[in-house]
Amino acid sequence: APSDPDLVERARAAKARLGDRVFVLGHHYQRDEVIEFADVTGDSFKLARDAAARPEAEYIVFCGVHFMAESADILTSARQQVILPDLAAGCSMADMATAEQVAECWDVLADAGVADVTVPVSYMNSSADIKAFTGRHGGTICTSSNARRALEWAFDRGEKVLFLPDQHLGRNTAVREMGFSLEDCVVYNPHKPGGGVSAEQLRAAKMILWRGHCSVHGRFSLDSVEDVRARIPGVNVLVHPECKHEVVAAADVVGSTEYIIKALDEAPAGSAWAIGTELNLVRRLAKAHPDKQIVFLDKTVCFCSTMNRIDLPHLVWTLESLADGKVVNRIQVDAETEHFAKLALEQMLALP
Ligand code: 13P
Ligand code: SF4
Repeated sequence: APSDPDLVERARAAKARLGDRVFVLGHHYQRDEVIEFADVTGDSFKLARDAAARPEAEYIVFCGVHFMAESADILTSARQQVILPDLAAGCSMADMATAEQVAECWDVLADAGVADVTVPVSYMNSSADIKAFTGRHGGTICTSSNARRALEWAFDRGEKVLFLPDQHLGRNTAVREMGFSLEDCVVYNPHKPGGGVSAEQLRAAKMILWRGHCSVHGRFSLDSVEDVRARIPGVNVLVHPECKHEVVAAADVVGSTEYIIKALDEAPAGSAWAIGTELNLVRRLAKAHPDKQIVFLDKTVCFCSTMNRIDLPHLVWTLESLADGKVVNRIQVDAETEHFAKLALEQMLALP
């Protein structure tokens, strides 16, 4: 549905009142009505870098989810304030690894005698606590666009990697891009005593995968891939690496949201694409490329409900409050967590 013209006008006016004091970041999964007001759009890696590159902006309004706003707070100066237009915009995957669970896991690894040779690599989609754990133990953060480089960096420093919290990104990167086998991977389940794995399994594994996943990308199945190939002969199946391994293995191309956008920009007219990622982005791509056939990989709709919480009314309220001198929904990571999380985030930004 088209946006309410009154709200559009109010957003414009509030943004004009704020001028350079505000910088609005929009993740590719945001609604069209929000993307319209973003000063920059990107995948989670690009947005983290862009947030850090705006020292003049007093307010960074992050249209995305909580872990992204936390990361922006960590990477920006103390003077800058990071705002999340709806505090309920979390990420179910990030919630799958808590600080307590991860500390317990590290004890299990220590008991198995492998903690000393294990390097933690944590996906951006994790809380600041998990990033701080990663920094404390000499690890790095990664995103879907640099996971391979992060793993190579980690394997230069240790024999094993503890990959948090997305088992699929960890497995897909290790097996599809780095020549590891499925047998090199073991899954640590935080809901089972000892993670549900034996000390022997931990000692034999190269990749210790946390049992987390994205509920949006988890919906795509091998069936959806086979089905679309039968419906659209010659279709290119392009999926995000948060999809299950069998889906990624059956796809033609795999990449982050920024990569997906680039691949479609470069695709020849007349080509057909089935995209396995969040629906706001897929719909925008289909609209932007009328010369190509672009379909959603699954038959049922699949928005990220927490990304979708940021809507135009929340954005207007945020911008108008800031323009009136009232800071709302500030995301602020405490100093100690920030110190260690920053080590891990800066390690990611320094990856070759
Ligand atoms: P990227 O934007 O890094 O591809 O990540 C997708 C995602 O799920 C963010 O939550
Ligand atoms: Fe989290 Fe998945 Fe939504 Fe990304 S798409 S924010 S991983 S729930």
